[in-house]
Amino acid sequence: MREGFGSKFGVLVALAGSAVGLGNFWRFPYLMGQNGGAAFIILYIAFACLLCLPIFIAEFIIGRRAQQNAHSAFIALHPSKAWGKAGILTILTPFVILCFYSVIGGWSVFYMLKSFTLSFTTTGSQTEIADIFTNFVSDPWTPIVSLLMFIVAVCYIVAKGVKGGIERYSKVMMPVMFVLVLLIAIYSCRLDGAQQGLSYMFRPDFSKLNADVCLKALGQAFFSLSLGSGVIMTYASYVSKGDSILKHSVYTVIADLLFAVIAGLAIMPAVFAFGLEPGSGPGLVFEALPYIFSQMPAGAIVAILFFIALLLAALSSAISQLEAVVAWLVEEKKMSRVRSSVLVSCAATIFAVLCSLSFGVLSDIRIFGMTIFDTFDYVSSNILLTVMSLIIVLFVGWKMSRQDVYDEFTNSGTLAQNVRIFRLIYFLVRYVAPVAVITVFLAGIIL
Ligand code: TRP
Repeated sequence: MREGFGSKFGVLVALAGSAVGLGNFWRFPYLMGQNGGAAFIILYIAFACLLCLPIFIAEFIIGRRAQQNAHSAFIALHPSKAWGKAGILTILTPFVILCFYSVIGGWSVFYMLKSFTLSFTTTGSQTEIADIFTNFVSDPWTPIVSLLMFIVAVCYIVAKGVKGGIERYSKVMMPVMFVLVLLIAIYSCRLDGAQQGLSYMFRPDFSKLNADVCLKALGQAFFSLSLGSGVIMTYASYVSKGDSILKHSVYTVIADLLFAVIAGLAIMPAVFAFGLEPGSGPGLVFEALPYIFSQMPAGAIVAILFFIALLLAALSSAISQLEAVVAWLVEEKKMSRVRSSVLVSCAATIFAVLCSLSFGVLSDIRIFGMTIFDTFDYVSSNILLTVMSLIIVLFVGWKMSRQDVYDEFTNSGTLAQNVRIFRLIYFLVRYVAPVAVITVFLAGIIL
């Protein structure tokens, strides 16, 4: 018998675990602040519901209908060579993401351990603390050891299986992460001068909304929901046939947005309270925040809590990436789960090491002007994810029979709510989503 998730809560935390990641912590709060505050949230919610939710549902339908790993799913639902080949991307994409994601996972491990040594209580200047990061990433060994620790943890959880590993650990990791981020948000909002950060994030400014901002919102919603990587498909294949696809999908979108907003509340008020400029990416999380922790009362404790939360976010996303590849090896290549987890982790480690070294000794190696790390990031985020999303919506909208899609989405007509909105969802998947995905793809390449 094929293993599956044991409970609805297990499905929710696993899916939310995949979606909630670095994108929520280091990109969303900044994007929001830069692009119209509350107005941006409204735009983001509109895109998430109208475009990303249908794609999410389409991916879900393929996985749960086939009850197989992402690659076999395409072949099972439409036995033609071409779709089988397209399905290969669902194995390649999560692997490529895993390679560069593990590097940042490693950074989180290192910073978490460092926060336990109370290193962020030393009141260095802002540049001194930022230098810790620059020296760390350009040093060859420490980041590699850190990423190894990260990958070993990911491998361990996946090797334990879907129920005994992924579900079991997500059930602990996600609630803990939620509580930690919430505590930091409460603390951060009570700092003197927090008000400025709140108005940076939320002050609605509808005049900022333009085509460029729309694309940013759409791109962020896309990446943050882990669309188009085969990961949702894989997790969906472990979901019970009695569950509502609509409910699981909507809950995941809500959880993802909620985490992004609370992460913003944890970060931005503190950034302003200590007179720093808001930014995004590694610079915000690994350079600016440690400085703030060194300045704020009880900052050493806040630093520990924050880096634990960041690590949990990275870990729960990385296990979903590894699982997508492992499921394929187990089912198609008949390898044992433990063996395939170790094998894929070793392969990912090789590329992750190259990505890591591209911040230091290999920084001169450029592919189309990008470092190795940036190439992995660019190819997966801007090319593979969008191409795969397009394949998914075309497959569900045009290749699968309408009856099959209907049966899977409505549990053969037994879920009244799903029956009611089926026509809308099907329309969005068939016509609107392909256009949106192509727009994001072209914009990503041109900009
Ligand atoms: N959603 C993740 C984040 O916000 C990133 C991500 C994109 C991802 N695609 C994925 C995670 C596929 C797991 C699987 O950081």
